[in-house]
Amino acid sequence: MLTGSTIVGLGRYVPERVLTNAALAASVDTTDEWIRSHTGIQERRIAADGQASSDLAVGAAQEALRAAGIGPGDLDLIVVGTATPDTMFPNVSCLLQARLGTRTVGCLDVSSACSSFVYGLSVGHAAIVSGQAKTVLVTGVDTLSRITNWRDRSTCVLFGDAAGAAVLRPAKAGSGFLSFALGGDGAGSHDLYLRAGGSRLPASYDTVERGEHYLAMNGPEVYKFAVQTMPRAAAEALQRAGLVSEDVDFVIPHQANLRIIHSVAHRLGVSLEKFFINVQRYGNTSSASIPVALYEAVEAGRVRDGDVGVMVAFGAGYTWGACAMRWGGAA
Ligand code: ACO
Repeated sequence: MLTGSTIVGLGRYVPERVLTNAALAASVDTTDEWIRSHTGIQERRIAADGQASSDLAVGAAQEALRAAGIGPGDLDLIVVGTATPDTMFPNVSCLLQARLGTRTVGCLDVSSACSSFVYGLSVGHAAIVSGQAKTVLVTGVDTLSRITNWRDRSTCVLFGDAAGAAVLRPAKAGSGFLSFALGGDGAGSHDLYLRAGGSRLPASYDTVERGEHYLAMNGPEVYKFAVQTMPRAAAEALQRAGLVSEDVDFVIPHQANLRIIHSVAHRLGVSLEKFFINVQRYGNTSSASIPVALYEAVEAGRVRDGDVGVMVAFGAGYTWGACAMRWGGAA
């Protein structure tokens, strides 16, 4: 009986340009020591001039299709999670569709900041279990470097650019995605935002002068929110799947900050060794952070057929999302 969906192929694209802490410290008032001790980050990738989110997404998507052993013509739905689309419209999924050269399929962008990839997985999963689609491409991509104020040391040290992608197909009962736990709380919308450029405050000379086209953040509040919400969301996903923390073989957390990840491991009651961590090399890549980490965890042999795992994210909004899964099980 087919009752679920699972991941049958993964892809990743990271830009070539590496920006180290030392290079950042040469342009803004910070130090390698401060960045490492407060975030765990050592370096991040920055998109080349002229490279937009869809350019990163296509590299990840093509690799995921190859890994799944399918062609673009097999897709029924393309979902892209992103907070930094190339343009307000058309959406990135349409641009990706054109670059992949697929037939006409549904193209949907999901905008839930750093939680977008997990939200996108839930959309893909639902499309498969409801019979609307058989094969779904879910991509998480962000080029936060484009909305970062490189003179603001409290934010510019945190972020990087990347894309990750997953192909979803039907799964056997009890395999693949076992549960989702999604949530949002708009009461915290003032803690992390990009003020200008939308319908509330269209871009103008004044908004640019005031730097309102850059992301703004209340770091300590976001930190508090993350360490409370991520373990709760992960525990809820486990509970909905009828699992407990002792069942967990791997955790793929949103890679925002090493200290946040340590706190999540402690509060969730899952050993830190089961958490896959690559924030040191990429910083916070927003929607791309979970698929890139998952890709590297699988590549490193840290996720094997039959393993039980959790992916858990939080982001601006606030939003959060977690899912429990048993790896493998394609029908
Ligand atoms: N280098 C040196 N000093 C710095 C830097 C820097 N890069 N940034 C801030 N400081 C200074 C501050 O000015 C402050 O100095 P003061 O005490 O003299 O005023 C001091 O360091 C402490 O600042 P805090 O903001 O209290 O530092 P904190 O320990 O909270 O760490 C951090 C800041 C790393 C941003 C932390 O709050 C954090 O990780 N928050 C969560 C951020 C996050 O994950 N955001 C992404 C959300 S996901 C999404 O949707 C994109």
